[in-house]
Amino acid sequence: MQTRHRLHFSEARKMKAIGANSVDLVVTSPPYPMIQMWDALFTRLDPTVAKVLTQNRGMVAFERMHAALDPVWAEVHRVLKPGGITCINIGDAVRKIGADFMLYPNHARILSRMLTIGFQPLPLILWRKPTNAPNKFMGSGMLPPGAYVTLEHEHILVLRKGSKRDFSEAEDKQRRRESAFFWEERNTWFSDVWMGLIGATQRLADNDIRKRSAAFPFELPYRLINMFSVKGDLVLDPFLGIGTTLFAAMATGRNGIGIELETDFRETVTGSLSAVTSIAHRRLSDRLANHQEFVQQRTAAGRTIKHRNRPYGFPVMTAQEVDLVFHRPKTVTQTAEDAFLIDYDIFQLEDCHRPLPPLTGKRPSSTQPRPRPSQGLLFE
Ligand SMILES: C[S@@+](CC[C@H](N)C(=O)[O-])C[C@H]1O[C@@H](n2cnc3c(N)ncnc32)[C@H](O)[C@@H]1O
Repeated sequence: MQTRHRLHFSEARKMKAIGANSVDLVVTSPPYPMIQMWDALFTRLDPTVAKVLTQNRGMVAFERMHAALDPVWAEVHRVLKPGGITCINIGDAVRKIGADFMLYPNHARILSRMLTIGFQPLPLILWRKPTNAPNKFMGSGMLPPGAYVTLEHEHILVLRKGSKRDFSEAEDKQRRRESAFFWEERNTWFSDVWMGLIGATQRLADNDIRKRSAAFPFELPYRLINMFSVKGDLVLDPFLGIGTTLFAAMATGRNGIGIELETDFRETVTGSLSAVTSIAHRRLSDRLANHQEFVQQRTAAGRTIKHRNRPYGFPVMTAQEVDLVFHRPKTVTQTAEDAFLIDYDIFQLEDCHRPLPPLTGKRPSSTQPRPRPSQGLLFE
């Protein structure tokens, strides 16, 4: 299996290089309106932003910043295939402008725009990000009514272009079955509150660059890509930053396109590529080891697990997990300045970096056919 990945250092408000109805999944996080670190960027996109901020017209600035993002959402709709999904990580902002401390509800503004464009909203995720900052409680302290609730979450909006995706061809069905996740992963990933994402996997770039780019943790796009696309799909991030979505696409056997205004990030993205194989290796090892621990605990509690996964031979909870198989990126080849080719092999149990808990019970018979994993589809 192979996947292809391309970087475009250009403007996401006009995605000239991407054809209509060509992308399966968008995973992204825009600059957050009304968060101070992005004021300069929004002023670059719309020079009137700085002026209205100095005039203390907070709601006008909020609206102008969103107006600068709106064309990107229209482009996302154009390039997505019917049935394709977009996941947008966005935090609200709290800010004092002049005398008024206010919430600027970025998630509500983007959601409303997406509905106007014609997206179908799906249940969304609250990403809980507790803060230990000593000044986390703002306002009038213990005296009502001027104390403010602490903002300790961000949103991940999930929207679809039109109706549910169809898998009618035999090859597509098989690709979908091989892209399954474990039942117990489903129970965590599809809960509507996510906690403890940071630190779940090793960080990619160093901390200074991560702060400057406001990168999300690798686990965030990693989960979303597994949840809302299949192997061989094409994943787009129109606000790529230092490349986290692209690395997650590589680690999950999807093709990827990233768009980013800042050419400064090219070096960081390409410099992190060598870490992709080891990050994927770690994450796949953890998933297999976690699954075997789950099986061990369930079996020890005297509960049965009815099905058996064919590639790995371990028990799984449902028939949908029977063909689940992990592909691991083996080599990353640069094919042009901003283009990369990834080769994969099948991740074997003995490749795990963590010792796997022993499993008791009958192994599948050796006469049982092993499925032939389908080829990843390349995009042109
Ligand atoms: C919140 S950061 C994304 C961080 C990313 N998720 C990561 O993990 O690195 C938003 C990025 O969008 C880029 N950006 C903002 N406006 C853009 C535009 N119109 N076209 C392309 N990129 C843009 C910024 O330069 C910034 O790197």
